[in-house]
Amino acid sequence: MPRLENRRILLGLTGGIATYKSAELVRRLRDDGAEVRVVMTPGACAFITPLTLQALSGHPVHRELLDEGAEAAMGHIELARWAELVLVAPASADFIARLAHGLANDLLSTLCLATTAPVRVAPAMNQAMWGAAATQHNCAVLEQRGIALLGPASGAQACGDVGPGRMLEPEELCAAVQQHFGGAALAGLRVLVDAGPTREAIDPVRYISNHSSGRMGFALAAAAAAAGADVTLVAGPVGLATPPGVRRVDVASAQQMHDAVLACVDASDIFIACAAVADYRPAAPATQKIKKSAERLQIELVRNPDILATVTAREPHPFTVGFAAETHDVLAYARGKLEAKRLDLIVANDVSRSDIGFDSEHNEVTLVAADGTVALPRGSKVRLAHDLIAAIAARYRACRAREHA
Ligand code: CTP
Repeated sequence: MPRLENRRILLGLTGGIATYKSAELVRRLRDDGAEVRVVMTPGACAFITPLTLQALSGHPVHRELLDEGAEAAMGHIELARWAELVLVAPASADFIARLAHGLANDLLSTLCLATTAPVRVAPAMNQAMWGAAATQHNCAVLEQRGIALLGPASGAQACGDVGPGRMLEPEELCAAVQQHFGGAALAGLRVLVDAGPTREAIDPVRYISNHSSGRMGFALAAAAAAAGADVTLVAGPVGLATPPGVRRVDVASAQQMHDAVLACVDASDIFIACAAVADYRPAAPATQKIKKSAERLQIELVRNPDILATVTAREPHPFTVGFAAETHDVLAYARGKLEAKRLDLIVANDVSRSDIGFDSEHNEVTLVAADGTVALPRGSKVRLAHDLIAAIAARYRACRAREHA
């Protein structure tokens, strides 16, 4: 079911190259059931045409504060009252400064002053402008006033620089809007997530590992934090940024991951085991680099502890969600693991497909519980993580309600 059904979102665009992403954002918000009205500053119109936004939103774009025609149709005060949420994406450094100072010298800044709806801004600018003391001060002023910032993300910028200042992706902004309307599904709960691969040393320079990118686990940690949880992320070796508001513990081997998880698990309400833990490790890693000599080399492997099974063997233990990475008979194996590891839920994941899974941005999974399955359609890992967290939160609450009945 669309999660933004009939929600009224006023989307403001200010000047910046990221406006091209706003077009996609409008489409996503509408696909999810929202009604979107677009307001553009002259700067935004220099980057993308109002006609594009009109076509995507299904309504004329509002641009002028002092426009007789527009005021006769839906005046600025009416528009400010109409909105349930004002989202400014992209928000330029100039717009953030004007908002921080309460200026009302164009339609969008006036609407932000006139509305009683929550205002969210998604900054987008060059990394040096973002880091400038004035911008940081203005952002702090906005946050003090309850105007939450969404992003910015860090990475390569259109101007060639690398650093913080990129607007969040449309799907991340859409997820934030859904989160805003969905309430904090995990408020007050402590969530522990393990993610990524592990590395099992053969000698000081070599190891056994797997293709896990950690993206799914990091997206789950981010979605859990966005849903109001206090999140600890035990991360194997991956090159991913820590999601905002998440406590991160870095580990390398399965044994280290096991120890880090067990150190946190008693203080957790929900444990999500998303890591691709190596099942075996070299029995006796060499202390010095193994030199090439014989034609054949045998490495004896021994079993690693099963982190998930260790957690569920403890009493009490948190509500526990596992992942089943399978290449065949996906659901049958997932059900087997659900029972064998005494899990509350398991996410079945077909890792034989190259378009989803391990090293991909996308995934498609089936959530398996003792009483049935729910298929979650193919989507980005960010999107899927939000759907999974919503489903996990609902199951957790139902399970605790049964226990207290
Ligand atoms: N897992 C774990 N510790 C391990 C191995 C797996 O905690 N040593 C967890 C994974 O994080 C995942 C679940 O167990 O949540 C299932 O992992 P998977 O690799 O699919 O299954 P295995 O139990 O390792 O079984 P097999 O490799 O035989 O499929």
